[in-house]
Amino acid sequence: MLKGTVVAIDGPSGVGKSTVGRLLAKSLGYPFLDTGIMYRALTWLALEKGVSPEDEEALSRLAQEVPLELRPTDGDYHTTVDDRNLTPFLRHPVVERWVSHVSRVAGVREALVRQQQKVAGGEGIVMAGRDIGTVVLPHAHLKIFLTATPQERAQRRYRELVSRETPVSYEQVAEDMKRRDDIDSRRAVSPLKPAPDAHVLDTDDLSPEAVVEQIKALIK
Ligand code: DC
Repeated sequence: MLKGTVVAIDGPSGVGKSTVGRLLAKSLGYPFLDTGIMYRALTWLALEKGVSPEDEEALSRLAQEVPLELRPTDGDYHTTVDDRNLTPFLRHPVVERWVSHVSRVAGVREALVRQQQKVAGGEGIVMAGRDIGTVVLPHAHLKIFLTATPQERAQRRYRELVSRETPVSYEQVAEDMKRRDDIDSRRAVSPLKPAPDAHVLDTDDLSPEAVVEQIKALIK
């Protein structure tokens, strides 16, 4: 296997990017960065500081100024600010509600993309998001774009939330996911779409382990 392979995994919400990315990174002995946590952390901080998720200028300023840190822990990354781990807040319903709005803002994306590129730094890594193969790591050795039907993705996200004892209904999850997909794929800056050289993998009938095997076969 190649040493130092850079793998970009993109796709819509609930498709399993982080489950697959984490398993793949573990089996390759690489770090894994789920870039969604950075947009989520910034959304949480904005709301906490009373910055409106509709105020593009204030959000850009916050993204440039806030000391959002990525701390490697067991091959994964956690977002911290001034030593405070933000992980417990990142799946809060209020973050789910606003994160797509915050991640539409060009100034926010510039700041976070710069940080993501620094983390990759030319070493072997698995990075997941919406624009990794198109914008963040356009020279990645391997680009994967995961797909699944909206129903399957909503089911996966619903099961995940129920397992974490989050009180939600399937209908609520499906509706929220559709709203985010619309915003993420229609935004002007870095919309969700496969890179021209990405391998598109339909995961509807595949377990995360089976997807990882397919990706590893592509690496070989
Ligand atoms: O993958 P996720 O559900 O944690 O992502 C949360 C939001 O962040 C998603 O609605 C779009 C945004 N995002 C993005 O715009 N670009 C990325 N590379 C990762 C996430």
